[in-house]
Amino acid sequence: MTDISALKAGLIADIAVADTLDAVEALRVGALGKSGVITGLLKTLGGMSPDERLEKGPPIQDLRESVTAAIAAKKAALEQAALDARLASEKIDMTLPADLDPQGSVHPVSQVMDELAEIFADLGFSVATGPEIEDDWHNFTALNIPETHPARAMHDTFYFPDEEGQKRMLLRTHTSPVQIRTMMTTPPPIRIIAPGRVYRSDSDATHTPMFHQIEGLVIDKGITLGHLKWTLETFLKAFFEREDIVLRLRPSYFPFTEPSVEVDVGYTLVNGQRVIGGDGDAADGGWLEVLGSGMVNRRVIEACGLDPDEWQGFAFGTGVDRLAMLKYGMNDLRAFFDGDLRWLKHYGFSALDVPTLSGGVGA
Ligand code: PHE
Repeated sequence: MTDISALKAGLIADIAVADTLDAVEALRVGALGKSGVITGLLKTLGGMSPDERLEKGPPIQDLRESVTAAIAAKKAALEQAALDARLASEKIDMTLPADLDPQGSVHPVSQVMDELAEIFADLGFSVATGPEIEDDWHNFTALNIPETHPARAMHDTFYFPDEEGQKRMLLRTHTSPVQIRTMMTTPPPIRIIAPGRVYRSDSDATHTPMFHQIEGLVIDKGITLGHLKWTLETFLKAFFEREDIVLRLRPSYFPFTEPSVEVDVGYTLVNGQRVIGGDGDAADGGWLEVLGSGMVNRRVIEACGLDPDEWQGFAFGTGVDRLAMLKYGMNDLRAFFDGDLRWLKHYGFSALDVPTLSGGVGA
């Protein structure tokens, strides 16, 4: 009997001082494993008489239960201690300032393109696109600018090298070929805007070899210059966010429109700065050219396979970069394409608080 209590006391003491899970496991195997001491004692019960078993059985069972419980408790304690140590070493301080990911911003050109698409969407226009590598026919000929026409000199064109038996390809000099492509594929009535990149061999503070234009085209029945004027006025009021926009239409020339008008918008000098709005003829005012436009030339309508006696329309075109410069007060066009992060930080738009298409989750 004393043997068993001594054995129990010894094992419990050993378990108490074991300080690793491996040490506890070794004790478990030594006591309760296949050839452990307690297992050995349990085996002796089978060979005892019922009386002897009644006497010796309970202390052996008690020994087994006590040692099993002590091992389980010790294991749990060691596991808990290991977890506590890990949690302490991996503690996250939620009060530390967050490490902000660098945030990008929406480029002014993208911002203005989105603003334009939204304004014209409200007027029932959809967005059309076309290739930047064009052929001569879509960029010039169909727009009533034949091979020998002096108007070609207005566009300093980037041509691709001539290839035998191939069409002469070029970088489109304006978005007007999108009018042609739309008229050739979409039955009227048509109301589209065509924003995109265009290319001309030109470079100074207000010209870059690549820039952005937006073209508008309406083809329907009974369309007049009055519709053009109303549309442009409504668009410019919405774009510059001012009700006092005054337009001046000047006669002009584009091969693809007849008559053609250049559209100026009145500005007022405020502390020496030009602010769009007000009558350009006022003492402190002036005019800024913002758009080229006109009634689509009959020849262009014909070239696209439509009957000009049935269908008429107007078209307009302008520089998106120029509109951005006027609205947001930037003065050097070249900075638009330098990719200088300081410029972008200053003039860029937050994707999170500007309600535009590329802004995504705007208000
Ligand atoms: N395509 C002309 C340009 O690039 C602009 C324009 C478009 C003028 C449509 C009139 C009508 O200068």
